[in-house]
Amino acid sequence: MSEKRTSIHGQWTSRTVFILAATGSAVGLGNIWKFPYITGENGGGTFVLVYLLCIAFIGLPIMMAEIMLGRRGKQSPINTMIALAKDEHRNPNWKWLGWMGVIAGFLILSYYSVIAGWATSYIFRTGGGMFVGVTADGANRIFTDLVSDPERLLAWHTIFMVMTMIIVSRGVKNGLEKAVTLLMPLLFGLLVLLVIYATTTGYFMDGIRFLFTPGTIDGKGILIAMGHAFFTLSLGMGAIMVYGSYLSEDYSIAQAAIWIALADTVVALLAGMAIFPIVFANGLEPGAGPGLIFQTLPIAFGHMEGGTLVGVLFFTLLLFAAWTSAISLIEPAVAYLVENRGVSRIHAAVWVGAATWTMGLGTVFSFNIWQDKTISIPFLFENLTFFDTLDYLTANIMLPLGGLFIAIFAAWVMREESAKEELATYPKMYSVWRFLVRYITPVAVIVVFLKAVGAI
Ligand code: PHE
Repeated sequence: MSEKRTSIHGQWTSRTVFILAATGSAVGLGNIWKFPYITGENGGGTFVLVYLLCIAFIGLPIMMAEIMLGRRGKQSPINTMIALAKDEHRNPNWKWLGWMGVIAGFLILSYYSVIAGWATSYIFRTGGGMFVGVTADGANRIFTDLVSDPERLLAWHTIFMVMTMIIVSRGVKNGLEKAVTLLMPLLFGLLVLLVIYATTTGYFMDGIRFLFTPGTIDGKGILIAMGHAFFTLSLGMGAIMVYGSYLSEDYSIAQAAIWIALADTVVALLAGMAIFPIVFANGLEPGAGPGLIFQTLPIAFGHMEGGTLVGVLFFTLLLFAAWTSAISLIEPAVAYLVENRGVSRIHAAVWVGAATWTMGLGTVFSFNIWQDKTISIPFLFENLTFFDTLDYLTANIMLPLGGLFIAIFAAWVMREESAKEELATYPKMYSVWRFLVRYITPVAVIVVFLKAVGAI
């Protein structure tokens, strides 16, 4: 039974536009800001290896499942889950999967916006020549000055949130295509330039070795690597699902998913290859935490030919990459409000934006006046700040849990004919997907969870 639905929010004009939009969602602060610092905190090589395995065996199958569910349901993730559960004569409680995603997106955006604010402020710092000839200590001081000032963080957070909501209220399709087609290749080019600069530091091979030589990792490290695979591919919360709901029937989902995952992974690895040589060349600490790129890249900009211009361009592109991700974080909630409350996109965006902005205050303060206030949850983590707690709960728990249920729904709950209708363009690829999403992906997620809490 496949009753054809259409999305009330419109449709992508081509498969390429969908791939670009989804890549815009995937590539963001996760690749350039988060991947390097959590790799540094978790010891490098093995962490990267586990992350790559998670992309291939957990991320890709779940991405295909999410696109498929979205395209069949054609609505916000909550209503998509209600509709699909009904189609398959299953329990309507599957809607809670959609709700968990909406909440995860809201929580993630609340801190994402604060970090994107840092990137925005760095456009001006670099442009004003603050980093010319800067030392490692100097770059560190400039960063610390910024984050210890709640007023400034608040101002940048507010600016980013307002800008995001203006775009969201106009609809995700307007403008996204042009922005992504132009800016993604530029960002890519600049990262390559930074990697080339990194080869001149004399520490390039140290960086490469750190990234790719396996060492040790514990259960928590594995959980963080898996959580990051979800975070960086925008999976487990409905962002890719809602983008899939704007996709028309006749495109191959598998191919699209492979392109998105590939682009995302290459960007993250390039970022790592640019940053770690600078870290080692300047005697910095790989585990410096969330400030890592802000403490390292300015050193490169401060010493390379034309560095001020390159730096301004780099942080501007980072801001755009963050934007195209932020839009997708909030789109499930906005689409839901439009569908169920009959409000305009503008209204929906203003309400959701205001709530997210308020939640973001916690993150703003966790880098200064609340930096000593920490939270512990038995078996999961100890002494994390408000920001770290949000990040941990969303990326390492909510997204993998969401992904697990998406896999279960697509592989076990939905009838096989339904999945086949969407994915069987390439029969071989379909069989591989079906096997992974039934047996490998869900088991892998559960094993990683159990290992992280020390149960196995
Ligand atoms: N993938 C985005 C990034 O790497 C973040 C994101 C997570 C976006 C979840 C949407 C959903 O920056």
